Amino acid sequence: MQYKYIENDNFEDFACGRVIKHKPGFTNFPVRLAQEIFLRSVSFLEKKDNLTIYDPCCGGGYLLTVLGLLNFDMITAIYGSDINPEAVNHTMENIELLTISGMERRIKYIENLYHEYQKTSHQDAIKSAKNLKTLLNPNVSIHTNIFENNILDVDDLKNQDFKADIVITDVPYGNMVSWNGNESSEDFIRSLLDNLIPILNPGAIVAICSDKKQKFLSDKFARMEKQLIGKRKFEIFRYK
Ligand SMILES: C[S@@+](CC[C@H](N)C(=O)[O-])C[C@H]1O[C@@H](n2cnc3c(N)ncnc32)[C@H](O)[C@@H]1O
Repeated sequence: MQYKYIENDNFEDFACGRVIKHKPGFTNFPVRLAQEIFLRSVSFLEKKDNLTIYDPCCGGGYLLTVLGLLNFDMITAIYGSDINPEAVNHTMENIELLTISGMERRIKYIENLYHEYQKTSHQDAIKSAKNLKTLLNPNVSIHTNIFENNILDVDDLKNQDFKADIVITDVPYGNMVSWNGNESSEDFIRSLLDNLIPILNPGAIVAICSDKKQKFLSDKFARMEKQLIGKRKFEIFRYK
């Protein structure tokens, strides 16, 4: 795939475990690819700011945190959910980095580590956290809401009162994480797409990353793009 929007920049400030927290068992996502998919998704929308985004399989919140930091002035609300309560807690910790106070707390924490252990890695992380802080706008805040949810359960999103412009998600692919919650569902992605409908704005974009094996078709969504990148693929759909 040819990148249209994002150069092969240095994204080391976003490295998982540096400022954005990492926990064993949680996956991350290539920053350049995340931002490319986000900007391709925006290109299919009429509105270009004041965006609400949602990740229904948010894991540790790496993808959402990176997108929030890189697009702070375009995004007004971030929603994330996962079936795993530990993932929800982990995302809540990471998403705090989208506030000045949360980022300052993280800087203080890493500074204390540096004073205690004098490690270069901590010094680098402090520098990165300060760089990331410059991406935040002190005059605006992103509304965030992270909750436990089984996206394969048809009823679980019906009581949510938000509407998303962009859903972007990296679905389970079986190595470290697999689908949970509905053993009988054979067509996971179709269920995911159908279950998202109650929270989609008209014309909303749904971008799904998966391994190449997962197939998805739905008559309620038009496929705008399909791209292969290494072992991954992503598809971008518009809600009809
Ligand atoms: C590949 S990971 C997502 C990683 C995430 N994008 C990040 O950047 O940290 C897939 C996630 O899907 C979650 N998951 C599995 N089955 C689910 C279901 N039925 N409903 C919601 N989340 C589910 C797993 O718990 C896992 O955290």
